[in-house]
This record gives sequence, C-alpha cells and structure tokens, in this order.
Amino acid sequence: MATITIRQATLEDKEAILKIHDNVYGGLDYLPAVIDEFFENQNSTSYVAVLNDELVGFTNMFLVDDGNTVVSRASRVSPSAEGQGVYKTLHTYALNETTAKTLAFTSTVDNKSVHTPSFQRNYTLLQSKLIQSFSSPAFDEECPTEETERMIVDLHIPSNEEMNTFFDSSILKSYLFPSNRVFVNWCPFQLISSNISLMKRYFRTQNLIYSDVKVDSINQAHGLLSISTTIRVKNPPFASHVFIYGTDAKTLKSHVCAHVNNAKIISKGARIKFLVIYQQDIDKDTLIKCFTELGLSIDSWKSTFYLFEKEIQ
Ligand SMILES: CC(C)(COP(=O)(O)OP(=O)(O)OC[C@H]1O[C@@H](n2cnc3c(N)ncnc32)[C@H](O)[C@@H]1OP(=O)(O)O)[C@@H](O)C(=O)NCCC(=O)NCCS
Repeated sequence: MATITIRQATLEDKEAILKIHDNVYGGLDYLPAVIDEFFENQNSTSYVAVLNDELVGFTNMFLVDDGNTVVSRASRVSPSAEGQGVYKTLHTYALNETTAKTLAFTSTVDNKSVHTPSFQRNYTLLQSKLIQSFSSPAFDEECPTEETERMIVDLHIPSNEEMNTFFDSSILKSYLFPSNRVFVNWCPFQLISSNISLMKRYFRTQNLIYSDVKVDSINQAHGLLSISTTIRVKNPPFASHVFIYGTDAKTLKSHVCAHVNNAKIISKGARIKFLVIYQQDIDKDTLIKCFTELGLSIDSWKSTFYLFEKEIQ
C-alpha cells in the first residue's frame, strides 16, 4: 500500500475535504453545514489523510468536558481508498496528538465497524437509545400556524442555572441522563456546568432546548427535556435532530410541536427529515402520533444510537 500522510487540516483543504465522500449518512451529511466552524472553533482540530497526492480521509476531534474528552466526528474516507486502513492511520495520529484522557464517539447500529470483535474489545458501550425518522413535506402554509402554537403549553427554555440543577440533582440525573451524558446533535457532553455554554452555541445553528421537567413532593421526576438542532443537509434540504430526555409522554406533544415549528421556520418551507433519538421506555405509539398528527410521515428507517468511549491515556 502507498504511504499515507496525515496532517492537520487547513482552510485551504476545505473544498477537497467536502469532495471526499458525497453520500455519507444517506444524504444527511452535516459536514458542509459545520465545516467552517470546525476551522474556527478553538475546541476543534481537524485532520486529513493524503494518499498519492490525493486527500482521501478526514476526521474532526472536538474537545469537551474541560478538555478531558475528545469526540471524533464527521469521519470519512473516500470510497476508492476504503478498507485499506486509511481511517485507522488517521485516527491513531489524531489520538496521539490529543491531550484528552478519553475518546468518545456516537454512531448508529448501521456502522458495520462497531460489530467487529476488535472494536468491541477496544470500546465500552456507554448508552444506547432508539432512533425514529419522520419526513415533513414541503409546505406553503403560514408557519408556525396559530393552531400548532396553541399546542405548545408549559414549556420554557431552561437557563444555564436550571441546566445546572438538572446536572446536580441525583433524581433528575437518573431520570433524564442514565449514562451521565447529554447529547447535542450527536455530540456527547458530561454533566458539568462548563459544558453548558458550549452545548448552547455549538454547531453555529442555534440548538433549541425546551423543558417542563419537575420533581414533585414525593421526589418523583416528571416532564421532558428536549434538544433539537436543525441544519442544512443534501437531501432533503434540511435535517432536524431531536434528542428527548425523560419518559413522561404527557407533554410530548408540546415538545414535538415546538421543535417542528422551529425547524419549519429555519427551513422556510423546504422538506425536512426529523431524526428523533429517545429512551427505550418512552411510549413509542404516542411519539409516532405526535409527529403524524402534525402532518409528518413516519419513515420505515429506524435505528439504534450508540455512545462509545475508551480511555486513551
Ligand atoms: C467508516 C470509514 C471512515 C472507515 O474508513 P476505512 O479507511 O475504510 O477504515 P479502515 O480500513 O481504517 O478500517 C476501519 C477501522 O476503523 C475502526 N472504526 C470505524 N469507524 C470508527 C469510528 N467511528 N471510530 C473509531 N474507530 C472506527 C474500525 O473498527 C476498524 O478498526 P479495526 O481494523 O481495528 O477493526 C469509511 O468507511 C467511511 O467513510 N464511511 C462513511 C462515513 C461513516 O460512516 N463514518 C463513520 C461515522 S461514525
């Protein structure tokens, strides 16, 4: 095999990076929407693999948890160079450069690598959640409509102080975040206050957070926390990733309406794919009803979301 060169990516590599793979995640590739942030964000370092003068591999390493965890994202190798160890070389180089103690990454069950024995020896599966996909048609009506606005009751955007109380309360932690991690657009964060501002501004696009979480007089948790990110992708033109925390389906409709309305405003009427990532024990029939009653169709594609971690030093 020809020699692979690995180096840090620069802004001049941008066009070549975007050409590495033109059909990642079945058209829902988020890299074009965030690549500028990858170069600007001080927590982010990107690496490329060059083979025979051609740029064939990319990965981004994003520091979270006060620099203790590095998250690898948007990894890809050109189809013509796949299966030759390019990603392994790239990833090993990037890990050697990091000062973080732990590597984390999220994936779906569809990533074939995660089923291999060598992968399972190397990584710990920290959490799995279910994923259901819904499609919104293009629409021309006024949005949000008065009717859907009326469906949003008792939700608010939690302040940083309130997010801290979610992270500090043992009752809320075990109800909302069983693996002690919270995800914003597939990036995992430990429950520490310094991550909150990063979670809110991460990915340029505003991440929308809604809550109606409460603890009652007998110390039982109720309500939901939901976080969505809507970004431009290839096909359909927009994707919205909605993470739902908690299992109390009573206010699910409000949460779904709030995120769907917001995504429709961002997409200005274009089609949107919603990926909803939720805990196993939420009532799935209610979840499906909440989306279909808003005129979205349930897709046949469903999957499982995984969070993997491993100690690196
Ligand atoms: C996944 C992909 C980057 C692998 O590239 P590749 O050069 O063919 O991979 P390699 O030949 O180096 O072999 C893959 C190795 O990387 C590991 N690997 C694959 N995905 C990984 C990930 N996201 N994080 C860490 N390691 C991973 C595999 O376990 C395997 O290691 P092993 O040989 O010890 O079992 C490439 O197939 C691709 O671009 N796929 C489409 C985009 C995609 O799915 N990206 C992953 C997002 S989670």
